[in-house]
Amino acid sequence: MHRVYFDNNASTPVLPEVFEAMRPHFGEHFGNASSIHHHGQETRAAVERARESVANLLGCRASEIVFTSGGTEGDNLAIFGLTKPGDHIITSTIEHHAVLNSCKQLEASGCEVTYVPVDGHCLVDPDDVRRALRKNTKLITIMMANNETGVLQQVEEIAKIAAEADVYFHTDAVQAAGKVPINVKQIGCDLLSISGHKMHAPQGVGALYVLKGTILQPMLYGGSHERSRRAGTENVPGIVALGKAAELAQNALQNGEVAEMAAMRDQIESAILNEIEATYLNGKGAPRVPNTTNICFDYIDGEALVIALDLKGLAVSTGAACSSGAIEPSHVLTAMGLSPDRARASLRFSLGKQNTPEEVDFALSLVPATVARLRELSPVYNKEAVSN
Ligand SMILES: Cc1ncc(COP(=O)(O)O)c(C=O)c1O
Repeated sequence: MHRVYFDNNASTPVLPEVFEAMRPHFGEHFGNASSIHHHGQETRAAVERARESVANLLGCRASEIVFTSGGTEGDNLAIFGLTKPGDHIITSTIEHHAVLNSCKQLEASGCEVTYVPVDGHCLVDPDDVRRALRKNTKLITIMMANNETGVLQQVEEIAKIAAEADVYFHTDAVQAAGKVPINVKQIGCDLLSISGHKMHAPQGVGALYVLKGTILQPMLYGGSHERSRRAGTENVPGIVALGKAAELAQNALQNGEVAEMAAMRDQIESAILNEIEATYLNGKGAPRVPNTTNICFDYIDGEALVIALDLKGLAVSTGAACSSGAIEPSHVLTAMGLSPDRARASLRFSLGKQNTPEEVDFALSLVPATVARLRELSPVYNKEAVSN
């Protein structure tokens, strides 16, 4: 069966060049990077080259990069590494659960957390962040790009507010890395997390930028790996892959590849919005990453549409989560003011480097007819009411 994958915000395929870069580290280059003999030194050199490459992508020094097991660990290390009971933390209602559930845990252990809202475009108002500041505020953690809508927050503004108040600023850039240029010095953040598998490296590797001089309490205790910020023998194949993926991401931002992806995303978006009645763009008017579109199809159950499209070979997703057997509408879309029904009727299409214009045509040949069929089956869909 012909299959097209438009769920790259969930995970991306490892690019062939990335796979080739990591391959020797499963075989002949197997040494432990902490060993002083030839095998160890060879591995150490590969890890440090990867660190340079990730630092290049983020605009920082190599020594400011800590390799992690992914976005979740980076977010946790930033949040738990900086805070202690009695501190106040500011975050937003639309963060990934890696941040939201870390903040819930902080609350349980004696911290106070303010969750600033977003508007109907999925945007945090930096003034709300400023107003939320307290004497004991230690950390602001607000994501750079939202995983469901792709909306980009005003992180530079928020970083300025944090700096004026002498508060740490962490941003989860897992969905921004490789899609928009990132320069941590220009943003002015103290910490920033990225994840390999959202940018064509494997699952289970990531990196946290930590501004020089920032004291982080480690989460793991063991050897003095990663300058004592993250103990444990390095995931060398993963780290090497992340380095290669960062290099390719940097090139793609400069050589027009990302712009081509944006054009494909725009084509999907405008064809659906123009051809299918009662469809709406979530996050309309806000700046967004170039690969993501999130569209509400009124009178549709999003899960049913995902399944119907999957049966025909197209992989997309809803932001809904299954909790205790019930489908919960996306916390991001409901935070933007969508009703639970509209949130459940929304689908995310997210592109990656491997996608082609032919795949866009394939998707567009399926979506309108599938939506029409499901609406015909829908007891609440009244075609006349929609067109009048
Ligand atoms: C915005 C955001 N943050 C963090 C994560 C977690 O990253 P990982 O899967 O590498 O733990 C994700 C993954 O979906 C994400 O989209």
